Amino acid sequence: METLILKGSQLDKAAEFIRQGELVAFPTETVYGLGADATNEAAVKKVYAAKGRPSDNPLIVTVSNIAMVEKYTEPFSDEAKALMKKFWPGSLTMIFKLKPNALSKTVTGGLNTAAFRFPNNQMTLDLISKAGVPIVGPSANTSGKPSPTTAQHVYHDLNGKIAAIVDDGPTSVGVESTILDMSVTTPSILRPGAVTKEDVEAVIHRPVIDELHHVGAKQTPKAPGMKYKHYAPNAQVYIVDPDDDWHDVVAWIQKNPQPTGVMAFDDVVKSISWPDNVDVISLGKNAASAAHDLFAELRDFDNHPAYKIIFTQGISPEGIGEAYMNRLNKSAGQMHFNQL
Ligand code: TXA
Ligand code: MG
Repeated sequence: METLILKGSQLDKAAEFIRQGELVAFPTETVYGLGADATNEAAVKKVYAAKGRPSDNPLIVTVSNIAMVEKYTEPFSDEAKALMKKFWPGSLTMIFKLKPNALSKTVTGGLNTAAFRFPNNQMTLDLISKAGVPIVGPSANTSGKPSPTTAQHVYHDLNGKIAAIVDDGPTSVGVESTILDMSVTTPSILRPGAVTKEDVEAVIHRPVIDELHHVGAKQTPKAPGMKYKHYAPNAQVYIVDPDDDWHDVVAWIQKNPQPTGVMAFDDVVKSISWPDNVDVISLGKNAASAAHDLFAELRDFDNHPAYKIIFTQGISPEGIGEAYMNRLNKSAGQMHFNQL
């Protein structure tokens, strides 16, 4: 059945679908999520099926108020309370210890913790309040593909597999939320996002572990979802590092003529005379615009199957630049121009 695209004025219909155990994609400030009643095991199972998601990968629980979290978790620490006050609603997802059997194994993947997110999007907060239950909310893409930043991206991947999509236009951040594990002695960032390690440390006044970079970082990431090849378009992506010369990239393209994509910042786009077989898309001026555009541009290239290779500009991993580089590395499978 054709998936309905709903407007903000049709939230009652969307909430009814959720209560009936149907799937509804919803907007957030980061990327679109795939919603189902988190307390309805059959509904949650449909989420894995629609995305083609491995069943050992736990889901984020999306809420519209703090009481919805408290119902399932052990009492919050003062640090957790301070972080909620500062960053909720917003792009910080926090992992807490659960009360025994508080949520089904389908949601938690059998862990005694769960990740909670309070997104900064009024339509979705209203949807959850109307449904009266928290909703699971993985990104609303086919597993392995770039996360969706518009309702059209969701439609492309999931039309016919879900009841509806609530459309609130393009998302503002463009990469998924920061995941902070608050269930351990030293809070630890499992996935970088718009809220940085420094932002968290400024609130809790002690060092936080960056799980991706600390000494002795494990091969198997603690957030199960981080181990999969992710965000990959059909073409092979190569990262052009800050110390690479774009004239060398152009020389390589001229020696290896084929339809080629380039994603680079405004100054690079303007300063190079590009060969005819190159399709150049700008990442804007800074890390925030690059994070905002990355997934949408990777999907754009997928609409033109002729492209076999995409060169994408790398930056230093600071601020939201860390989240951008994390997602770019995954979409490139760690391949760099200097390996060609
Ligand atoms: O911005 C976001 O967080 C988006 C929007 C839609 O809210 N959601 C999102 O969900 O990115 P998803 O499922 O694509 O990514 C959730 C990540 C996965 O890597 C998963 O393994 C990890 O969070 N995760 C979930 N629960 C966990 C837990 N209890 N312990 C460790 N990692 C967990
Ligand atoms: Mg995802």
